[in-house]
Amino acid sequence: MFSPRLRNIGESIFARMTALANKHNAVNLSQGFPDFSVSGTLIDLIHRHMQAGANQYAPMPGLPALRNAISEKIRDVYGREYNPDTSVTITAGATQAIFTAINSIISAGDEVIVFEPAYDSYIPSILIAGGIPVPVSLNQHNFTIDWEAVESAVTSKTKAIVLNSPHNPCGTVFTTEDIEHLRRICSENDIYIISDEVYEHMVFDGGRHHSIAEYEDLAAKAFVISSFGKTYHATGWKVGYAAAPPELTKEFRKVHQFVTFSVHTPTQAAYAEFMQHDRSYNTLSGFYQEKRDYLNSFFAGSPLKFTPAEGTYFQIFDYSAVSDEHDLEFSERLTREAGVAVIPLSPFFSKDPDLKFIRVCFAKRDEVIKEGAERLLRYIHKDLTKDKES
Ligand SMILES: Cc1ncc(COP(=O)(O)O)c(C=O)c1O
Repeated sequence: MFSPRLRNIGESIFARMTALANKHNAVNLSQGFPDFSVSGTLIDLIHRHMQAGANQYAPMPGLPALRNAISEKIRDVYGREYNPDTSVTITAGATQAIFTAINSIISAGDEVIVFEPAYDSYIPSILIAGGIPVPVSLNQHNFTIDWEAVESAVTSKTKAIVLNSPHNPCGTVFTTEDIEHLRRICSENDIYIISDEVYEHMVFDGGRHHSIAEYEDLAAKAFVISSFGKTYHATGWKVGYAAAPPELTKEFRKVHQFVTFSVHTPTQAAYAEFMQHDRSYNTLSGFYQEKRDYLNSFFAGSPLKFTPAEGTYFQIFDYSAVSDEHDLEFSERLTREAGVAVIPLSPFFSKDPDLKFIRVCFAKRDEVIKEGAERLLRYIHKDLTKDKES
């Protein structure tokens, strides 16, 4: 008999929409990956490290040089010291770090609070650990956190809370008020934090990312997780990390050594060297803000309504003025008939919320954004005209 833990989990929406996009030769604005090139220097460094013989297992927690570079970066950007030997672990992307963090602290019957819509790996990771996911919906008009609902969701069995800011799919960013609510809840209850910060360097309009690493009380109970995939346009390399206090890192590494053991050695060596001088992450917010504005410029005044994303490389559109179809059907129709793949929001919920939103990824070259936006607008316009005529 198969393991029953994931009996209700099917194929991920990203795999499904990307396959459909390929089948219909659609512009793929669905899955969240950039289509611009990785730094040539970084590619050369990997090559050089391979040629120099960095081809065998790296140490289980990661190459010391990379752990040092991460520790220095977190200190410079967020002002907290994580000892590279005892508090930083290199993982095969953020997904593995999230899975490992959850599986190192959650056991059967433990409750874990998750905000919905939620990135798709959180709930399966909790279920595999034997935990009980406790979904709390974000406010459905602006996707902010309903802290009263969070407080009501906390019970004596609550063991952890999964956070994600900047937020995929909603594009929202934690405010200082959010952090204060969180601090109060965590000070009154013994709760661990798994903080998914993979979009830390994509915050717009002068806003700022509040890393959990910045707050001593929160950091003491937290796994702070990020991914080089998002920061360096290299999602396919799957390198990320978790920073956590030594007692949490000790548990994390017990699981890590049997999930992955260690991560691609030459890529780690290359990142370590690259990070000595690279500060390109400081320009990433500006870069993506321009992409967001470029995408949104096509939709101003159109029936696809939006509030500009505050962070990430995703924009949410409300299509309720266009169709009352279910979001999955609507997204599939756009892929097949308009030739543009987008992501519906309902798969980010454990219970179908019947919302009329789609997520569009703008981590694409301008010509791809333009082609996708124009196809969408043409199709929607034609569709609406047809409706009026019939
Ligand atoms: C919120 C969030 N967390 C984690 C990940 C996964 O990161 P990685 O590819 O490093 O595993 C993604 C990727 O899309 C994401 O959007």
